[in-house]
Amino acid sequence: MSEQAMQFQREPVWKSEGSSRIPFGAYNSDELHRRELQRLFYSGHWCYVGLEAEIPGPGDFKRTVVGERSVIMVRGQDGAVNVVENACSHRGVRFCRKPSGTVTDFTCPYHQWNYDLEGNLRGVPFRRGVRQDGKVNGGMPADFKPEHHNLTKLKVAIRNGVVFASFDHEIESLEDFLGPEILHYFDRLFDGRKLKVLGYSRQRVPGNWKLMQENIKDPYHPGLLHTWFVVFGLWRADNKAQLIMDSQYRHAAMISTRNDVASAPNEVTSGVSSFKASMQLNDDRFLDVVPEPWWKGPTAVMMTIFPSVIFQQQVNSVSTRHIQPDGHGAFRFVWTHFGFEDDTPDMERRRLRQANLFGPAGFVSADDGEVIEFSQQTFEQKPDGQTIAELGGRGVENTDHMVTETLIRGMYAYWRKKMEI
Ligand code: FES
Ligand SMILES: [Fe+2]
Repeated sequence: MSEQAMQFQREPVWKSEGSSRIPFGAYNSDELHRRELQRLFYSGHWCYVGLEAEIPGPGDFKRTVVGERSVIMVRGQDGAVNVVENACSHRGVRFCRKPSGTVTDFTCPYHQWNYDLEGNLRGVPFRRGVRQDGKVNGGMPADFKPEHHNLTKLKVAIRNGVVFASFDHEIESLEDFLGPEILHYFDRLFDGRKLKVLGYSRQRVPGNWKLMQENIKDPYHPGLLHTWFVVFGLWRADNKAQLIMDSQYRHAAMISTRNDVASAPNEVTSGVSSFKASMQLNDDRFLDVVPEPWWKGPTAVMMTIFPSVIFQQQVNSVSTRHIQPDGHGAFRFVWTHFGFEDDTPDMERRRLRQANLFGPAGFVSADDGEVIEFSQQTFEQKPDGQTIAELGGRGVENTDHMVTETLIRGMYAYWRKKMEI
């Protein structure tokens, strides 16, 4: 690496005011990435960990992450959801290796320190030593207090079945964190009905985690990049749309209504025609869209909750997409496709069928993984470059159309403030 590149990697140089030109250095530095983890994932922010429906009974657990730190979401005997760090208090072993399961307690394999489902240290082998030849050898010091060596417990917030956690116990409420504008759309999707997990897709994308947030905060690429959408007329830049942000511009909701649905709500699929007559779906049930009462109008609402998650409604397909950073140049992306317990079997099949558009090999989402990777390749190689996010101006504002990069500018305005860059 050249000396200039080394120097640049230490601190991205923001060459302009505002947030419409983002230096490549925001994406290619380990040092900056560590600062992001500390300031954005480990303090001051609620991070998504899962759905209550994933751990319905006492002892049910799911291993996941907050930022890059391994955590366990587990339901206690009392029914409460706990989130504890997957790091043994003794010598740090990441003791839980299974992705999910049911347990009565946790035991670290190394020296079998034992913890209950709330993360309290319950057992320490040889704590009182071993009796040999009439005397006690070893053991922990007399003043060793197990209650001082529990697992690290995260603060937990649950709203309508969605579980968030934070290492920061001073953090504001989840509702304040989301803000009223975003909360409104959160409660539209998660309105208290019991959720049912339908399945997962997992992928590892070789690109900086922020690029995934940008991708969903960019509502004008789908009609250009995603030929599948274009061919079958599912996404048009002139669809009725609204882009709204919380007061700090970190979260956003992109709300859109397909024109055909707006004008003929009972004929959703009738307006879906192929722009290329030669291309037809072998199985057109992928487009078997049935409007649902809870939509209250919009056919797609994409929420980006900074920094860790995206909540998706694309017609009948609903999912959470968990962004799990893995160094500055990659992230794991875990999709949880869900439905509602009161769905008819037909609706459940429909949601699953439409989920084929998404995930690592999705008809649509495969494209996003690729362009994120191709962007990152440039960011690694060209230290003094910068991206341009100036469609719709250089400022940050809510809009009633999609032909803008305002949400990206909003996110970086917030990012610059938090990162002090
Ligand atoms: S490291 Fe876990 S018991 Fe020793
Ligand atoms: Fe996309």
